[in-house]
Amino acid sequence: MGPPPARSPTKSPGVASAVSQPEDYEAVAHQAETTIEAGEDESSDAGYNSDNYSSTTTSLGPSVRDYAFENGRRYHKFHEGTYLFPNDEPEQEREDMKHAMIINLCGGKLHYAPLEKPQNIIDLGTGTGIWAIDMGDEYPSAEVLGIDLSPIQQAWIPPNVRFLVDDAECPWAYAKDHFDFVHVRHMTSSIKNFPKLVKEAYDHLKPGGWIELQELFFQAQCDDNTMPADYKLTHWLSLIEEGLAKFDIDLLSPKKHPGYLRDTGFTNVQERVFKVPIGTWPKNPTLKKVGLYNRCMIVDGLQGNSMKPFTKALGWSVEEVEVFNVEVRKACENAKVHSYFPFHVVYAQKPLE
Ligand SMILES: C[S@@+](CC[C@H](N)C(=O)[O-])C[C@H]1O[C@@H](n2cnc3c(N)ncnc32)[C@H](O)[C@@H]1O
Repeated sequence: MGPPPARSPTKSPGVASAVSQPEDYEAVAHQAETTIEAGEDESSDAGYNSDNYSSTTTSLGPSVRDYAFENGRRYHKFHEGTYLFPNDEPEQEREDMKHAMIINLCGGKLHYAPLEKPQNIIDLGTGTGIWAIDMGDEYPSAEVLGIDLSPIQQAWIPPNVRFLVDDAECPWAYAKDHFDFVHVRHMTSSIKNFPKLVKEAYDHLKPGGWIELQELFFQAQCDDNTMPADYKLTHWLSLIEEGLAKFDIDLLSPKKHPGYLRDTGFTNVQERVFKVPIGTWPKNPTLKKVGLYNRCMIVDGLQGNSMKPFTKALGWSVEEVEVFNVEVRKACENAKVHSYFPFHVVYAQKPLE
C-alpha cells in the first residue's frame, strides 16, 4: 500500500498531438446575471463562442479566473459565495485523492449506469475534471463536458473533453434531450435544491439516457461498538450539517436521492450502498487503502471544510474552530474505532416515451 497519489497531469505533454489544452475558459452567461443577451451574433467581438451546447455560451475573459481569498484559503469568484469550500491546490489534491478512493472502492468503475455508446456526457461540479478526463479516455467517441464554478481543471485533457465555468443550479442553457449521461459526484455539500437539479437533468437527457449520483453519507457508522458515543467526528459532522442547513444545504440528502429521481419521472431507479472505512482498520487490503485515503480526505479537509460553516453560519471564531479540529483529528486517527461512511450510488433512466 503506497501513500495517496500525488496530483499529476493525467496526460503528458509528450502526447500533445492527442490532447488539447483549455487556454481560454468559457463561462455560461446566465441572462439574469449578465448584460450579454442570448441570440447576439456569435461571431461578433462580444466574445461569443459558437458551440453545440448553448446559444448563451460566452467567453467571459479573466473574470472567471479571478479568485476570492479568506483565512489563507482561495475560493471561487464566479457566482461568489455559492460553494463554501476552497478551490486551491491543497484542496485540488484532496479532491483527486477522493477520486482515487472511490475508484478503488468501486473496483475501477467510473459509473454503474449501463451506458451503451454514449455520445454526450455532462459532469456537474467537475472539480479538477479528473472523472471527466477518465470518461473521455473510456469513451473516446463521446463528447464529455465538465462544468464547475471554478476554472481549476487539469491542463492536459483528451480531445473529446471540454470544461466550462457554469453554475449547475442556474437554468441550464444546454439543448433539451441532448445528454446520454448526467453525472453528479460529491455534491451534497454544494447543492441547495436537488429536486430542481434532477429536473434540469431530466429535461436535458435524451429519452433512455441515464443520471447517476454518487455521494458519501456524512454520518459516521460502526458495526462493532468501537465508536464512542462522544466521537468527536460525529460532533463535527453534526455541526457542519447545522452550519450548511443555514445556507439551505442538506448534507444528508443522499438518502432522499432515489425519491427525488422517482418523483421527477425517472424509471429503473437503482441504488447501491458501499462502506467507506475511516482509517486503516479493515483487514481487506483494498478497503485498508480506501480507509487510508478516506482518513486523509477527512483530516486534510478539516480546516477548509470547517471555516465557512462554523464561522459564517454558527458564529465561531477561527481560533475556536482550530482548537476543536485538533480533537476531531485525534478521533479520526484512533485506530481502535472502526467507523465508516456509507457511499450511495443511485442511477436512473429517463423513460424512452
Ligand atoms: C467536492 S467537489 C467534487 C468534484 C467532482 N465532482 C469529483 O467528484 O471529483 C465539488 C465541486 O463542485 C463545484 N460546485 C459546487 N457548486 C456548484 C454549482 N452550483 N455549479 C457548478 N459547480 C459547483 C465546486 O466548485 C467543486 O469543484
